[in-house]
Amino acid sequence: MKIITVAAGKGGSCKTTTALSLAAILSKKKKILVVDTDPQGSLSWVSERSAPSFDIAQETDVKVLQKLKKVGGYDLIICDMPPGLDNNALSVTLKLTDFVILPSPPSPLDIRELTKTINHVVKPSGIPFRVLLSRVDSRRINDALAIQSQLMDKDIPVFNAIIRYLVAHERAIIDGKLINEYKGAGAKEGVADFSRAADELMREI
Ligand SMILES: Nc1ncnc2c1ncn2[C@@H]1O[C@H](COP(=O)(O)OP(=O)(O)OP(=O)(O)O)[C@@H](O)[C@H]1O
Ligand SMILES: [Mg+2]
Repeated sequence: MKIITVAAGKGGSCKTTTALSLAAILSKKKKILVVDTDPQGSLSWVSERSAPSFDIAQETDVKVLQKLKKVGGYDLIICDMPPGLDNNALSVTLKLTDFVILPSPPSPLDIRELTKTINHVVKPSGIPFRVLLSRVDSRRINDALAIQSQLMDKDIPVFNAIIRYLVAHERAIIDGKLINEYKGAGAKEGVADFSRAADELMREI
């Protein structure tokens, strides 16, 4: 069993979308638990549905999170973190984590905040990690590729996969669906993006 943490210094950087979409895709072949450590419990809508393809637990108590390794019956536990770095849940979870995913939109301010997170929290922990460029405007893929190589020049590993900005990700949630269940425009592209990221993740862990 491996523990994956999805974290970022900044709010709204696609953590929850990443945790859910990867879980939805990987649950075709693996037994997955997503742990929502956000006190706002933004994942509760998924657990309220019938017959989910993966399990969800909301847990903010660090005493319980400390025992995450002892949870049996899963191939993968994916922890969706609240924004910010100075929270106990993150420091406790990181100690148990096998791999950190850092989703981030490619805007300069987001990337600056992300680099801070990596240098202050992730690199010192020694845990393997990768940045996942997310909500990327398809018309500006070249800019995203340039950011990928700038980050790699700074010794910051980045997923080759890029998660494009697709309205489908927002509309799926409004319909109470995961991206692989949504039938509207952009859903296939959304699944393709996260499938590439999921394949890369499975090769890394
Ligand atoms: N690839 C995408 N394309 C379009 N919209 C997206 C994409 N990824 C995320 N979003 C939207 O961006 C917003 C923020 O995403 P999300 O909730 O995943 O971020 P978060 O990092 O979990 O936020 P918080 O810090 O508040 O927990 C949401 O409205 C979500 O639907
Ligand atoms: Mg979130």
